[in-house]
Amino acid sequence: MKKVDLGAGPFLYPKPVALVGSDVRGRPNYCVAACVGIVNMEPPTLSVSLNKTHYTTIGIRESGTFSVNTPSADMVEITDYCGLVSGHKVDKSDMFDTFYGKASTAPMIRQCPINLECRVVQTLDFPGEVAFIGEIVAAYVDETCLTDGRPDIKKIDPLLFSFRDNHYLRVGEPVGRAWSVGKRLMQKET
Ligand SMILES: Cc1cc2nc3c(=O)[nH]c(=O)nc-3n(C[C@H](O)[C@H](O)[C@H](O)COP(=O)(O)O)c2cc1C
Repeated sequence: MKKVDLGAGPFLYPKPVALVGSDVRGRPNYCVAACVGIVNMEPPTLSVSLNKTHYTTIGIRESGTFSVNTPSADMVEITDYCGLVSGHKVDKSDMFDTFYGKASTAPMIRQCPINLECRVVQTLDFPGEVAFIGEIVAAYVDETCLTDGRPDIKKIDPLLFSFRDNHYLRVGEPVGRAWSVGKRLMQKET
């Protein structure tokens, strides 16, 4: 199949959409981030890359904590708003019902089905962004989004983002079970 050279760019699909929260000058603030990913399983650790000038960034640097909240697809409008306006100019503290975990100063969004409470363990400076490496110290899920005690992606209905065509999407249908569907090919090896 013929390949087209796209040039260097962050063409990784799909991207999650997260609402990243921090307290700035005593008030919660939330911004949208698609540059989010797990970097370690145990202890569970993720990275969030934020522009150095973002209002949210100031709060993370101040408190050493932040939250990663997954909005559901029906939160698309309010989520996009948080990616359009900055806390530098608009007070976003009342946009959501905010709650806090046991020990953290990281504000979390009750309306989001999944909330991760993070403590900064490393900060990596890149030319445009700063990557906050955060240990996930607690994770919260809406009771209604569980099936057999486990988070159910269909019930969470997380918002996804497609880079360059700039569309928000939702997840589709399951196509196979992980660590299982490939086993048929292992049998072929022998
Ligand atoms: C779909 C989408 C994805 C975004 N992803 C990021 C990101 O990964 N990192 C980042 O620094 N800004 C990202 N932004 C931009 C910020 O969310 C936006 O500049 C926001 O207004 C910053 O808010 P704050 O200044 O209150 O922190 C994204 C915006 C949108 C709409």
